[in-house]
Amino acid sequence: MSSVIEVSDVSWKRDEKVILEHVDWKVEQGEHWAVLGLNGSGKTTLLNMINGYIWPTEGHISVLGHRFGEVDLRDLRKSIGWVSSSLQEKMYPNERTQHVVISGKHASIGLYDKPTNEDYERAAQLMQQLGCAHLIDRIYQGCSQGEKQKILIARALMASPKLLILDEACNGLDFFSREALLNSISELAKSPEAPHMLFVTHHTEEIIPIFTHTVLLRRGTVFAKGFTRDVLRSEVLTDFFESPVQANWSQDRAWLSIPVSGE
Ligand SMILES: Nc1ncnc2c1ncn2[C@@H]1O[C@H](COP(=O)(O)OP(=O)(O)OP(=O)(O)O)[C@@H](O)[C@H]1O
Ligand SMILES: [Mg+2]
Repeated sequence: MSSVIEVSDVSWKRDEKVILEHVDWKVEQGEHWAVLGLNGSGKTTLLNMINGYIWPTEGHISVLGHRFGEVDLRDLRKSIGWVSSSLQEKMYPNERTQHVVISGKHASIGLYDKPTNEDYERAAQLMQQLGCAHLIDRIYQGCSQGEKQKILIARALMASPKLLILDEACNGLDFFSREALLNSISELAKSPEAPHMLFVTHHTEEIIPIFTHTVLLRRGTVFAKGFTRDVLRSEVLTDFFESPVQANWSQDRAWLSIPVSGE
């Protein structure tokens, strides 16, 4: 079987500025990856490229076995779900939550066709899976940020994507809402029809064990990639951030701290 994502020697320049440089990255079947990097390191640019919204200046990309240039990107995008915190404001505020979820069937903002009974059933099942079944019939606007994120993940799953991109899905969530969302993502990964997931974050502790692999992006280049356990180590991260940090592993997650000088 072909790789889920294959990014080969990809560069992207904009206005003489190199934004991605010689990026090599492969996601194989059965893997879920975390993408970690500071602001402006190129994470969203790379994901935009995987979604076919921008085109590499150099190099090649294949997604779900289709090489860009040889595939209709509109078709390919139907197999890719995308959830970002900026998506939250794009939904119609007065819509009912289940209608927001159903709108994911055609990745539309709002509903254009009358939903079928199957649509309602599927939406209810997805909301159950994401731990937000109790929000059914609520108005989207009245939901908290954490609740909205769960609804948007359910929405992205409505089209049964093969690849799900979560770009800073935990932004703006309080500690408990964040843990609840991470738990739902972990549960989702266990389901037989789970998509491959890419989880973009600034925070190592959000990289839960289902994200077996992590890529570190710095200034548009891949600094390190591989098993999360090997990548999220104090030495690697200190080099990566160019500042001393300590990775404390607890409950299979890496929690960062700044060592007190002399330690
Ligand atoms: N269309 C564009 N034109 C010019 N520069 C761009 C464009 N898109 C992105 N950039 C620049 O590329 C760099 C990487 O941006 P990108 O949005 O990929 O970073 P990021 O890793 O997602 O950051 P953040 O963590 O803040 O979301 C930034 O310096 C950004 O200003
Ligand atoms: Mg970004």
